Amino acid sequence: MRALVVRRYGAPEVFELQQVPDPQPKAGEVLIRVKAIGVNFADLLQRMGLYPGTPKPPFVPGLEVAGVVERVVEGPRPEGETVKPGDAVVALTDFHGYAEWVVASTKYVYRLPAGMPFNEGAAISLNYLTAYHSIFTMGNLQPGDRILIHSAAGGVGIAAVQLAHARGLVVFGTGGGSKQEFLRRIGVAHAIDNEKSDFAQVVQKYAPGGVEMVMDAIGGKSFASSYECLAPSGRLVVYGFSAAAGASGKRSWLRGLTAMAQTPKFHPLKLMSKSAAIIGVNLGQVRARGTHLRTELGEIFRLYGEGKVKPVISKTFPLEQGAAAHQFIQDRKNVGKVILTLK
Ligand SMILES: NC(=O)c1ccc[n+]([C@@H]2O[C@H](COP(=O)([O-])OP(=O)(O)OC[C@H]3O[C@@H](n4cnc5c(N)ncnc54)[C@H](OP(=O)(O)O)[C@@H]3O)[C@@H](O)[C@H]2O)c1
Repeated sequence: MRALVVRRYGAPEVFELQQVPDPQPKAGEVLIRVKAIGVNFADLLQRMGLYPGTPKPPFVPGLEVAGVVERVVEGPRPEGETVKPGDAVVALTDFHGYAEWVVASTKYVYRLPAGMPFNEGAAISLNYLTAYHSIFTMGNLQPGDRILIHSAAGGVGIAAVQLAHARGLVVFGTGGGSKQEFLRRIGVAHAIDNEKSDFAQVVQKYAPGGVEMVMDAIGGKSFASSYECLAPSGRLVVYGFSAAAGASGKRSWLRGLTAMAQTPKFHPLKLMSKSAAIIGVNLGQVRARGTHLRTELGEIFRLYGEGKVKPVISKTFPLEQGAAAHQFIQDRKNVGKVILTLK
């Protein structure tokens, strides 16, 4: 089969479309003919060699795919929903997603709701689960609460805005200058141009007492400013470190170390006196609680069925143009999810 291989860590041109052996499912696994692949920021960090747990090159990245079940090899203890050949599904994978065929554990294969196209299927699982788990499971936000969402025009960002809206939250959202109109259109009450304004000052102006939650995947000094935006009982959800990725797309130790050095340390006693919480979210870890994730995705699919959430596809690229897809995100041009497609 054809797969997009990272030959060495580096800029998007390190990708090469190669012929590799077809994957063979083992007991408890499903073989999927891939139709659409969700491109995640984590894939960019993996390509640069900046993501914890990334294999040594050569490797095939890719954490979520949508496609059609070709074969199921029953395990001793069937886990999750029963799927059969011909079913349209989405699957969370450990790498290997940028390929024509993918093998995934039945634990992480979910049947797509009726009528959901493959492109949307590849855009919904990781982003919406991250947002849902942060806002509702960990954050327990209630109608009327205020939330600041960074990179609100990105994959997780839009998911968070839509889910927040569905729950009646007041949304602040940051994004590049060209994305402001879009942010207002999807329901961000206070759109903040992060190229021009200091977001903490804007929050202070419209929510002088602070907000109940900030979702921050920028990292570095952004974590400190986000923390300052919290109201009493406020929760800062830290779930990424985009600050480590430079515009060149190459690994830069200087940039990474600078961002690390700017990352604040939160003393428990200070958290207590402010009455604030720092919450770390890592979907890779949450996956260990498979049933829990399945319940959350079921709720997301229900909201999709009611028309309350709908993935926004920024741009699709054929698999062979994976390098261009990465460059597009790296240049901060995406408004929504970037998808790789296969015939
Ligand atoms: N912990 C978890 O389980 C988990 C799961 C999913 C994603 N994440 C993290 O969440 C973040 C967003 O992921 P995503 O897949 O939703 O991203 P995405 O759709 O690719 O969006 C990325 C957006 O982030 C902004 N950005 C901020 N710093 C950037 C930089 N240095 N280089 C390029 N873009 C930058 C840009 O928007 P503006 O130009 O508008 O600022 C860009 O459009 C990432 O840090 C990712 O690692 C974490």
